[in-house]
Amino acid sequence: MLNIRIERTATPKTKPDYSKLGFGKYFTDHMFLMNYSTEKGWHDARIVPYGPIPLDPSAMVFHYAQELFEGLKAYRRADGGIQLFRPDKNIERMNNTCDRLCVPRIDPADALQAIKAVVEADKDWVPYDEGTSLYIRPFIIATDPMLGVHPSHTYIFAIILSPVGSYYEAGINPVKIGIEREYVRCVKGGTGMAKAGGNYAASLIGQKKAEEYGYAQVLWLDGVERKYIDEVGAMNVFFVIDGVVITPELTDGNILPGVTRNSCIALLKKWGVPVEERKLAIDEVIEAHKTGKLNEAFGTGTAAVISPIGELFDEGEKMVINNNEIGPVAKRLYDAITGMQWGKVADDMGWIEKID
Ligand code: COI
Repeated sequence: MLNIRIERTATPKTKPDYSKLGFGKYFTDHMFLMNYSTEKGWHDARIVPYGPIPLDPSAMVFHYAQELFEGLKAYRRADGGIQLFRPDKNIERMNNTCDRLCVPRIDPADALQAIKAVVEADKDWVPYDEGTSLYIRPFIIATDPMLGVHPSHTYIFAIILSPVGSYYEAGINPVKIGIEREYVRCVKGGTGMAKAGGNYAASLIGQKKAEEYGYAQVLWLDGVERKYIDEVGAMNVFFVIDGVVITPELTDGNILPGVTRNSCIALLKKWGVPVEERKLAIDEVIEAHKTGKLNEAFGTGTAAVISPIGELFDEGEKMVINNNEIGPVAKRLYDAITGMQWGKVADDMGWIEKID
């Protein structure tokens, strides 16, 4: 159990217009911080006014990207209460990322306590508007002032909060995704399954290219054969081919084990909808499109929720999917998951963690 010191801001900010939030542009009044040293372990848990974190220019995070993050959300229920969705899964993944990046783990109960405490401190920032939530961004940075390439001995764990609307401008409307054939996001044995900031840095070149062509994001292929579908970077990806829901399997360690991905698979199984986690070649998707068997495609993620994919672009070829409309599988998953998150649908999966 952490002993969290709370220093409240003397100058609360004006809240943004909640009907025009977009994603990750506004930050609340407070943040959570905690330090790590070899001697003391994780210590000095505190909630302080949101603001800059002073760091030595030689801090290792600036040079060797020993950094990791998570993303989850707090939701406002109709009765005014606040709740989280499967925070234990994010904490478990954070600790798995810690292992991969040689960062000391955080006790899961302490991490949950920190998340709840900072959301509680800024609870008036959890928006009420339809489709909005408070995005929670925990992250850990390596702070040793040292240029040798070794794991740091000191770290900061921080949690910042951002009231958000939809991740994509399109909202729940289908997004357009470009298939990336030149660059790769990760390779087997790399950090693809970890939520490491470096993965996202490596993805930017593909993202930039996609945006130049008017596409929202990139569909990454595997780094070895450039043949199998990996993920979209900010989301995992699902295809419905001839009535079967297929998503790339996690076993190669390339793909982020998404909490929404896991929730979709669990719900589909519960509903008796055929779902397969397996290698999925991009050629199989192209062929299914040609033969009219590609029923739907959608991405899943905490930020993206369920985002239907209305068009895939592949080296000059456009593939329009389901008439550029949200399909029945994506819609059913969206309604079930967001229904639970906003407390409109009973949580019969044990996924909701109430704060208030
Ligand atoms: C999330 O869905 O929470 C993510 O972390 C994706 C992100 C890079 C915006």
